[in-house]
Amino acid sequence: MRFFVCLAIICCGLVWAETEAVLGLPPLEIPLLNPQSSEKVALGKRLFHDKRFSANSKVSCATCHDSAKAFTDHAPVSEGIGQLKGARNAPSVINAAFAKTQFWDGRAADLEAQSIQPMLNPLEMGMNDEQAVLAVILKDSSYPQQFAEVFDIEPANIDIEHVAKALASYERTLISGNSPFDRYYFENDQQAISQSAKRGLSVFFNSAACASCHTLDSGFALFTDDEFHNIGVGYHRIAVVLEKLAYQQKTELSLANIQALSGDNAPELGRFLVSQRLLDLGAFKTPTLRNIEKTPPYMHDGSLQTLEEVVDYYNTGGAMDGIRPENRFIDPRIRPLHLTDQQKSDLVAFMRSLTSPQYDKVDTVQAVRGDKENPELN
Ligand code: HEC
Ligand code: HEC
Repeated sequence: MRFFVCLAIICCGLVWAETEAVLGLPPLEIPLLNPQSSEKVALGKRLFHDKRFSANSKVSCATCHDSAKAFTDHAPVSEGIGQLKGARNAPSVINAAFAKTQFWDGRAADLEAQSIQPMLNPLEMGMNDEQAVLAVILKDSSYPQQFAEVFDIEPANIDIEHVAKALASYERTLISGNSPFDRYYFENDQQAISQSAKRGLSVFFNSAACASCHTLDSGFALFTDDEFHNIGVGYHRIAVVLEKLAYQQKTELSLANIQALSGDNAPELGRFLVSQRLLDLGAFKTPTLRNIEKTPPYMHDGSLQTLEEVVDYYNTGGAMDGIRPENRFIDPRIRPLHLTDQQKSDLVAFMRSLTSPQYDKVDTVQAVRGDKENPELN
């Protein structure tokens, strides 16, 4: 009895449990309301690959987050059911478990909240509603039993939260660290990366100040500050429309005329769509740079093809065809950097050192971190 009371107090005070860390990564936080178990992860993996959760039974999560492509689709913007194109590039799901928010604009708070949205998104998987998702499960010959066992419930009580939890638990196994960079930086293995990559790390910290947004902490490095910044990418698409709206209404750019901007241009508003703050206009979440070599093309709109193009973009302060477009919201750190050719190739060499050897095998890992039933796996 006393034991249970203690547990309840601990549960109320603590929202997360932690698992042991991988080299270069912080400990993974597991929500106490959704503990890991091998069975739940297996169920999540099955859901992730099941095309029946799309309106035409042709698209699964894995279509756009393909393990053979470092959990991306290598397309500038993703194609969902019936070749419908979304407006944004599919980020890798590897290490998404560490992010403070999900999506380029952070509109989902966690993996559980994120995971049902693609199924209902008309451009992605296009299911009518949550009932349609549950109908697929209940009609299947083995899902009802599998859910019942994993969550210790009657099949009649399966709801969308269980689907979200299983998907999130699977995604919490998709983590990778221990890159050559990690062995150099955190274990002082001087042979792990090239001289060029070492010089690139210094450029990353100093002359280019990339690390002010793609941050490193003491003991681990996720290469993101989990904040939102306008670095100019895609902004030209809305700049003209915004200025025209203001001109027509003979006003300064205001919240009201920005909110009137809709349709194809709306996704370019970025974090503004969530916060409604003018400062967040065209701001997107700083992405991690782990395994970056394996996830082209780059940026929220997939507009840059190679890491060399990314470095050129930053080096010119976001210029296109030699001209920096007018952008009153751009972060002041995005300005011409005057890097030499050597510094530019060193930066690229550094970014290539962030590839984990096991990046394409993360979902074959047998051990499920944080599994309470099988503590020997942790
Ligand atoms: C049609 C392609 C497509 C499908 C199918 C798809 N996604 Fe995505 N996914 C994307 C795109 C594009 C984004 C970025 C969208 C945005 O930020 O507005 C994204 C974002 C995410 C993110 C956020 C990652 C981050 O770094 O912010 C996660 C997690 C994710 N998807 C998981 C899933 C899961 C789970 C499923 C299946 C239920 C799924 N996706 C199905 C294309 C897809
Ligand atoms: C002001 C903060 C900031 C600084 C400084 C910064 N970045 Fe970024 N970086 C971002 C944001 C935000 C994005 C996503 C922008 C978008 O898609 O609109 C990004 C995107 C990227 C991407 C593409 C990632 C992907 O998955 O598509 C790479 C690569 C990158 N940055 C490398 C660098 C390098 C190298 C530097 C230094 C030269 C640098 N960044 C400086 C904030 C920053």
